[in-house]
Amino acid sequence: MSKVIVKEKERVLNVVGHPVNRVDALAKVTGTAKFTADYYVPNMLYAVVKHADIPHGYIKKIDTSEAEKVEGVVKIATGKDIPGVKKVGFPIPDEEVIVQEKVRYIGDVVAIVAAETLEAARKAAEKIKVEYDPLPVVLDPEEAMKEDAPKIHDSGNIITHFKIRKGDVEKGFKEADYVIEREYRTQFIEHSYLEPVAALAIPVGDMIEIYGTVQNPHNARRITSLTLGIPMHKVRVIQPALGGSFGGKDDTANFVAARAALMAKLTGRPVKMVYTREQDMRESYKRHPYIMRYKVGFTKDGRITAMEIKVITNAGAYSSSSPLVLYRSTVQCTGTYEVPNIKGDFYTVYTNTVFSGAMRGFGAPQINFAVESLMDEIAEILGMDPVEIRLKNAYKEGSVTPTGQVLKGHVVSIRDIIKKLAEIADWKKKREEYSKDKGDVRRGIGISCAFRGVSLGAEGADYAGAIVEVFEDGHISITSGISEMGQGAKTVMSQTAAEVLGVPIEYVTFVGPDTSFSPDSGPTVASRGTLMGCGAVKVAAEVVKERMAKYAAKLFNTTYENIVFENGYVYSKKNPENKISFPELAKKCYLDRVNLSAVGWFLAPEIHWDPETGEGEPYFTYTYYADIAEVEVNVKTGDVKVKKVYAMHDPGKVVNPKTAKGQVYGGVAMGIGYALKEEYKIDGKGYPITLNFDKYQIVRAHEMPDVEVYFLENPDPSGPFGAKSLGEPAFDTVAPAITNAIAHATGVRVRSLPATKDKILKLLKEKEERR
Ligand code: MOS
Repeated sequence: MSKVIVKEKERVLNVVGHPVNRVDALAKVTGTAKFTADYYVPNMLYAVVKHADIPHGYIKKIDTSEAEKVEGVVKIATGKDIPGVKKVGFPIPDEEVIVQEKVRYIGDVVAIVAAETLEAARKAAEKIKVEYDPLPVVLDPEEAMKEDAPKIHDSGNIITHFKIRKGDVEKGFKEADYVIEREYRTQFIEHSYLEPVAALAIPVGDMIEIYGTVQNPHNARRITSLTLGIPMHKVRVIQPALGGSFGGKDDTANFVAARAALMAKLTGRPVKMVYTREQDMRESYKRHPYIMRYKVGFTKDGRITAMEIKVITNAGAYSSSSPLVLYRSTVQCTGTYEVPNIKGDFYTVYTNTVFSGAMRGFGAPQINFAVESLMDEIAEILGMDPVEIRLKNAYKEGSVTPTGQVLKGHVVSIRDIIKKLAEIADWKKKREEYSKDKGDVRRGIGISCAFRGVSLGAEGADYAGAIVEVFEDGHISITSGISEMGQGAKTVMSQTAAEVLGVPIEYVTFVGPDTSFSPDSGPTVASRGTLMGCGAVKVAAEVVKERMAKYAAKLFNTTYENIVFENGYVYSKKNPENKISFPELAKKCYLDRVNLSAVGWFLAPEIHWDPETGEGEPYFTYTYYADIAEVEVNVKTGDVKVKKVYAMHDPGKVVNPKTAKGQVYGGVAMGIGYALKEEYKIDGKGYPITLNFDKYQIVRAHEMPDVEVYFLENPDPSGPFGAKSLGEPAFDTVAPAITNAIAHATGVRVRSLPATKDKILKLLKEKEERR
């Protein structure tokens, strides 16, 4: 079930806002969509990586003599074979396509084999012998912060330290009736995209063409160009169909593309590299584990007066997006609540574990777990309803965020959302009724809510480009650097072009991204695809539309402002008999040499944030949302069943209700996994334990609850048609709604994710013993 809550008079759009089918659905359901691994070209070699054998140490010697003897081996490359820049990565270039001197985790690549067959490449990779000078290993970020800890990079182990200083916390604690301290922790989790990372690199003259599982083809081009030491126009990256990403294909996947390109350059032949699930899970980055310590002061009536916060995140062996992920955690450190006095210190730290990076939510889900658990703990101490405490502190128009930003210029809808969702879920009644459960199976209901800064924020260059071209038959090709990963980007961008040009969506096809003709649009991350991609398409389509309107105006003897584009026809408002079909007009324009292609450029409003003081406007606008979860917990077994989830989002404007609903269902599925079962485990020495989906358990279909999705639309002045963000919000608050519901059902609170049966049972036992 789902519902878009919209004021009816606003519904004047013909394509945008309507539940159109995905434009890529046919190719996917008929199996004609090609994924990277589906591409075969003549004379192609297969490449396989050799991963590090130990988590920390200097490479003394790499012996490839036995490997060379394997029949079919064409080339074995080590770090010395890289012609270009040795250290790459964004924002801090500390990663290596093949490590030169030192391994820092068990997923480092020390050599690559290219061979005539996959079997030969695999066999040879196993025969490469590496001698190391082992170094002491540090896996715990707090240990890694100590002076005498083994140094993973020369720069020291603390990558970034951000601060928030707002008001006076000492004064705030004095004003409080209660001061409590809590620690919350979260785990490593895996993106679990269906399609493991892969790349096919083809030498074409002095160019390298790459098909790869890359979330951001322009980043893959950047890394490849640097690695090979060739200019960017000689690297062409084409994004085929992508089997999911969730933030997971914007780093490792670029390195895989660069490795295939390197082997193609060294051999002069096409090279294909497809990771196994185990190789992928060993090497690819995860969601950051967080340690979060909150000291919080509050009054008897539930007003928060101060927060002192310390957050430490495990970046693992390389920095990747860690500073940017930490940025989001820092500026959103109090959740969706106004806190007058804050002192916050936020660190991200190198260790010898797998590295951490971008993953759907990007530093918000961890903070939300802490803050939303904390709100329930405060409510419990005060004997207050969790909805009431949230309404007492939640942001409203004019509220001041931790960075001193005043929330204005958009509708601050969080209170509206909390109230409406609580009413829909029959919160009050269920909260009371479930509390009376006495048997083995106890019911619970929990809420959590959040706000989220839209797009990259002040830490990134926030732009996107698109090209719209109307062909002579009136059909339209569009492209952008904003990419499709399964989230529906092509569909919403196609809807946008169709909406502006007044044609059915069937007239539009999205092609690309292809770095040689799709404009670099920044990364498709940060729930910015719809906002920025549709923004750029809209600008480009409007340029073409204006040229066509001017031409039609001449035909109809009127001014171009009078020309209407609607349902595949173009007519004069003043005299609607003056009408021509869109394809006919396109044809006339061509014959009369009217330019029907245009580039659109969309910029986010300018903002600024100071990393020294933590002050400024980290994002130009925000989205608001809440989840309510109902669970059943068996107090004998610790078993948790999520029975129902209610979700309400304010994405500004829902461009496609069908795919938007899909985003929320997917977010709930991932959120349940994060809350209850998923954990990428590393043993005490730095070796991974969970390398495939036998040991790493994600949520299965039969574990999905009934999900009710509601959209509350408050169009944002900065977004196309008022659209903001949805992809990450759909996941951001699910886990704490579930853990809060578990606490309601059982009276015990799990403060470290995942809330496994073992943890629940242990807490229940301790509670029993205290009686
Ligand atoms: Mo994302 S986690 O911003 O790809």
